[in-house]
Amino acid sequence: MAGIDNQERDTFSGKLGIIAAAVGSAVGLGNIWRFPYVTGENGGGAFLLIYLLFILAIGFPVMLAELSIGRRAQRNALGSFRKLAPGKPWYLVGVMGIVAAFLILAFYSTVAGWTLEYLVQSLGNSFAGKNAGELSENFETFHSGTFRPLLWQMIFMFLTAFIIFSGVKKGIEKYTKILMPLLVVLILAVSIRSLTLPGSGEGLKFLFSPDFSKITWNSVLMALGQAAFSLSIGMGTLITYGSYVRKDNHLPGIAFQVSLSDTAIAILAGVMIFPAVFAYGIDPASGPGLVFVVLPNIFAQMPGGHIFSIFFFLLLAIAALTSTVSVLEVVVAYFCEELKMTRAKSTILAATAISVVGVFATLSFGPLKGATIAGKTFFDWFEYLTANIMLPLGAIFIVLFVGWYLGRKAFSDEITSGGQYKIAITGLLMFVLKFLAPMAIAMVFIYGLLGGSL
Ligand code: PHE
Repeated sequence: MAGIDNQERDTFSGKLGIIAAAVGSAVGLGNIWRFPYVTGENGGGAFLLIYLLFILAIGFPVMLAELSIGRRAQRNALGSFRKLAPGKPWYLVGVMGIVAAFLILAFYSTVAGWTLEYLVQSLGNSFAGKNAGELSENFETFHSGTFRPLLWQMIFMFLTAFIIFSGVKKGIEKYTKILMPLLVVLILAVSIRSLTLPGSGEGLKFLFSPDFSKITWNSVLMALGQAAFSLSIGMGTLITYGSYVRKDNHLPGIAFQVSLSDTAIAILAGVMIFPAVFAYGIDPASGPGLVFVVLPNIFAQMPGGHIFSIFFFLLLAIAALTSTVSVLEVVVAYFCEELKMTRAKSTILAATAISVVGVFATLSFGPLKGATIAGKTFFDWFEYLTANIMLPLGAIFIVLFVGWYLGRKAFSDEITSGGQYKIAITGLLMFVLKFLAPMAIAMVFIYGLLGGSL
């Protein structure tokens, strides 16, 4: 059983609990907001194929490695490395994870705030009767403002802090189990409407027929970054959550189910968005606003669009919330365990500091639009640095840590729960962790940063 030194550590109630929480973390704006727009900017089908390959060959093994580290160490993202590799520089991977958590939450809460604005607009039935041009205009005006986007961001940060404050497990576990299936049903309903729009076939072709001439090394790096971002790997979220998993839970099964659900929802989101993108003549490469422009168009035109839009943005906000909670928990668990602060104090401190950084992200679409470095705003930089740089780098070090430092015996002990389960592919997994994943990530990383075509 768990060691005596962690008697008071919280755990998830069981397998369903950790799956709900981890799916809650994985499924979020990354699937519904980011996946479609990044896929749109990188040419569609071929990008999707590379993305799927990364989920399978890299995402799943990294997720399993992270969960194993956390459960073995029973500590936060930084403390886990300190405990398993005392006196070694591995803890720097944890440091990077905590910095990444700050930056991710800073820009994520901007977009999460937008979902709240759109929820309120849905409640007022304000998409009805508007055409595509007016709906783009509507988004443009709102998100380039100052007061409202900031207000929503702060409200969202407050909600996130509130849940973390009162302890995640009970609330998150309970709600995600009910809400995630509901989100799937809604996405299905909206997809059906989208698919039945005249001209929708173009969208499916864009999403599913690969045209490799549009792929550059940079888009391969984007696919890797998106896979890592969407699975919540590479920064310690799953180390932290893994530390709350009971010793008898089957880690590979958990990692598999979480990866599969996350991927299914991203593809569904693509099926929901792209047919409408083409039907309404919107540019698939229109960036972070894509979903906020396309979806209201569908709602404005579908029977029951009013009620569907309310449900949809409500659930999107909730999906975002179960993700932001998991990001904040990384920082809070670190403050609590390593800096010995109370949970309340850690939460307030972390949420306040992140909100301050977040202001720069939110104002990047308005007053700070012109404040760019190398053509990227604060928002763009936070997103780029985390998804495309920090998460892939974190993932490399995590697999190297498990593959070479922890080693086969400890890893196998963890994934079989001390011999309780038989895992036939341990050898294959070790090969991936030691060689395949680090080499593939390093290659994509270097070529991606250098740019150029394949
Ligand atoms: N996976 C989340 C999403 O897709 C975002 C996230 C990234 C959460 C990293 C935690 C850690 O929305």
